[in-house]
Amino acid sequence: MKLDAGATVPHTTAAAGAVWAPSAQTGIWVENLSHRFVGGLLAVKDAKFAVTAGEFVVIVGPSGCGKTTILNIIAGLEAQQIGSVSVAGKAPKAGRFDIAYMFAQDALLPWRTVMGNVLFGVEVRSEGGQLPKHVYEEARELIAMVGLSGFENAYPRQLSHGMRQRTALARTFLMPSPVLLMDEPFGALDAHTKLMLEQGLLRLWERDKRTVLFITHDLAEAIALADKILVCTARPGSIKCEIPIEMERPRNIGALQNDARYHDYHRRIWTELAAEMVV
Ligand SMILES: Nc1ncnc2c1ncn2[C@@H]1O[C@H](COP(=O)(O)OP(=O)(O)OP(=O)(O)O)[C@@H](O)[C@H]1O
Ligand SMILES: [Mg+2]
Repeated sequence: MKLDAGATVPHTTAAAGAVWAPSAQTGIWVENLSHRFVGGLLAVKDAKFAVTAGEFVVIVGPSGCGKTTILNIIAGLEAQQIGSVSVAGKAPKAGRFDIAYMFAQDALLPWRTVMGNVLFGVEVRSEGGQLPKHVYEEARELIAMVGLSGFENAYPRQLSHGMRQRTALARTFLMPSPVLLMDEPFGALDAHTKLMLEQGLLRLWERDKRTVLFITHDLAEAIALADKILVCTARPGSIKCEIPIEMERPRNIGALQNDARYHDYHRRIWTELAAEMVV
């Protein structure tokens, strides 16, 4: 079985009993990245940033400024044109097993149960081989962590949107990919479910400190999750500033509203974003 084919560092998840070993090789580097779509639209211009191994970095920026385009280039889903991009020391390429990508839409397979969907990513990577017992145990543990115990045999049509997104979160974390790309994964959820999932995500991330690049429009979410926030300019998108979030971990998201630093960060990021708004 080749669960980690293509990865540059040996790794397995904490629940499997082994040690996660982030290294400089699991970081993301983007330098002077520009991207023009067919038809001439310049979506990204001279974007430059780094996500170090094990860092949780959040990108915020006006709608249409090129955030998803940047993530797609890093994932190898969009061809890279000008500039250089490296993920875990290698050029982007679609289908790399060391990169997991979670979208706003849950993208569950309707004919698979919650358990079947959670296992799907590792099944693909095992190339049809038998999955070891600990993978099933870990899948069950992740399903419990996202609050879906008892729904292992339910189909997506029997779940709410939030439950489907929680299933997708468990699937993402079952994959032993050291790099996670997340494009507004909680964008369409109600405030309460969102808070639950953000807290769940932080709990999962604290376990094995993967490298995360996360896009959101929600500043509260950005501050709650991030080690560092990258603020984009209006299109063509580039990184106008980086704001380190210096608040202790593990974080209790529910309590952040009582922290004066949270409000300072919010004001500062909002001011940066407001300057980019065209009305
Ligand atoms: N495949 C494509 N072909 C042509 N133009 C595209 C394509 N994909 C995106 N664009 C354009 O590139 C720009 C950036 O799009 P992108 O999806 O990266 O923005 P975004 O920052 O993720 O926006 P949002 O916050 O609304 O998701 C937009 O103007 C969009 O119209
Ligand atoms: Mg987008």
